[in-house]
Amino acid sequence: WAAEDPHAGHMTMATTETPPLLPVGDLPTGRALPALQKLKNQSNPAGQFQATLTAAPRTVQFKPGLDTVVWAYNGQTPGPLIEIYEGDVLEIRLVNQLAQPTTIHWHGLPVPPSQDGNPGDEVAPGAERTYRFALPAGSAGTYWYHPHPHGHTAEQAFMGLAGPLIVRSRLDPLAGMPEQHLVFSDLKLGADGKVVGNNDMDWMNGREGQFVLVNGALQPVITADGMQRWRLWNMCNARYLNLSLGGQPFRLVGTDGGLLEHARAITQLLLAPGERAEIVVMGNSEVSLQALAYDRGMMGDAPPPQTLTLAKVTLSGGATRPIPSHLRQITPLSPGGAQKRVVFSEQMNMAGGVHSMTPLVNGKSYDMNRVDLVSQRGVVEAWSLVNDSDMDHPFHLHGTQFQIASRTRNGQTVPEPFLAWRDTINLRPNETVVIHVVQPQAGPRMFHCHILEHEDRGMMGILSVV
Ligand code: C2O
Ligand code: CU
Ligand code: CU
Repeated sequence: WAAEDPHAGHMTMATTETPPLLPVGDLPTGRALPALQKLKNQSNPAGQFQATLTAAPRTVQFKPGLDTVVWAYNGQTPGPLIEIYEGDVLEIRLVNQLAQPTTIHWHGLPVPPSQDGNPGDEVAPGAERTYRFALPAGSAGTYWYHPHPHGHTAEQAFMGLAGPLIVRSRLDPLAGMPEQHLVFSDLKLGADGKVVGNNDMDWMNGREGQFVLVNGALQPVITADGMQRWRLWNMCNARYLNLSLGGQPFRLVGTDGGLLEHARAITQLLLAPGERAEIVVMGNSEVSLQALAYDRGMMGDAPPPQTLTLAKVTLSGGATRPIPSHLRQITPLSPGGAQKRVVFSEQMNMAGGVHSMTPLVNGKSYDMNRVDLVSQRGVVEAWSLVNDSDMDHPFHLHGTQFQIASRTRNGQTVPEPFLAWRDTINLRPNETVVIHVVQPQAGPRMFHCHILEHEDRGMMGILSVV
């Protein structure tokens, strides 16, 4: 499979034009938001969760009568919802029925490195393996899983392989509030019904399709009776979602790694690729859930950013109750160990009259045989994440949740008004974000840009935790 890799190396990319796309009006809209299918626990003893995820091609019809081949976990895209509790032990058998190697990475969870689906730890076509790990106390939050094979993460994700995972706490202050789950994914469909492969522009800017789906549906209808807790996942390869509910305020109550200390009233929420959030919505009106135009600095002749309608929302008043004023305690991490600097940059190349861009971390492309950074297990460190480029890049680190300590943009301090646990943080151009982070387990961990095209093209490094 390496031989036919169209983006092997990182300088030359095959020039692939985009075939005619399916017109946006061709997909049906307006059905009720499909509920996510839950992965069924095959095990009886309490505290154990056992199940199989089979990655395989499957034919679906986004447009009635037009076949589309997707790659799906257990035939579902988005993949089935894994719902578990803090303290549970998970055993997930991955069966690979794809024609290429794959892995499952548990984005955001403190999974031992050997169980975290790292690139280089692939399951061959036709083979299988079981991932086994326990979920520690304090890990309640909104996570996801997706493939992470060397060089093919973007492709496997845009073909449909990604699914949500919720870790619940038995002491959840919002328990009992009705929940709604919204998985956002991006779809680029050809007029022939095929999922379109990436062209040069996609490899440079990150891929965006003509459709953004919510739980696999285009512009579904969401009905919220009273107050609802929404969990949001941005599973798009590269699309930023600057979410708005028609300007209506809603409450941010959680980020990647679970609840905030206090609910915060906001009217807009930027979810970079890979990020998740929990919000509480209420009110009495019909609004659109929109992704407002957001300029992430795409290069070349990319179209200007547009506002998209993601869903129609009917908020129907109903019973509300106050959100508890204290959701949980987040203790600030205080760094005592080494400091690190991670610089995202882009190297512009010109070959045969064609511009291309190579995304780099600390001036280098990913090398699976090179350790880029070394951290000591259990020691809190301060990392300066620097975006020395003209495009936004979402930084992601495996194996732990971190806190933002400070942020400066063009030399000016940008206040960071609240503590939160995150595993993915957007870096705007000319921005430096300092995070405080500690790795609880030894072994190799990946850090990378979560624009998956950038990650596949080398905007990734290896942290060795010793
Ligand atoms: Cu969500 Cu290294 O990935
Ligand atoms: Cu991850
Ligand atoms: Cu990037």
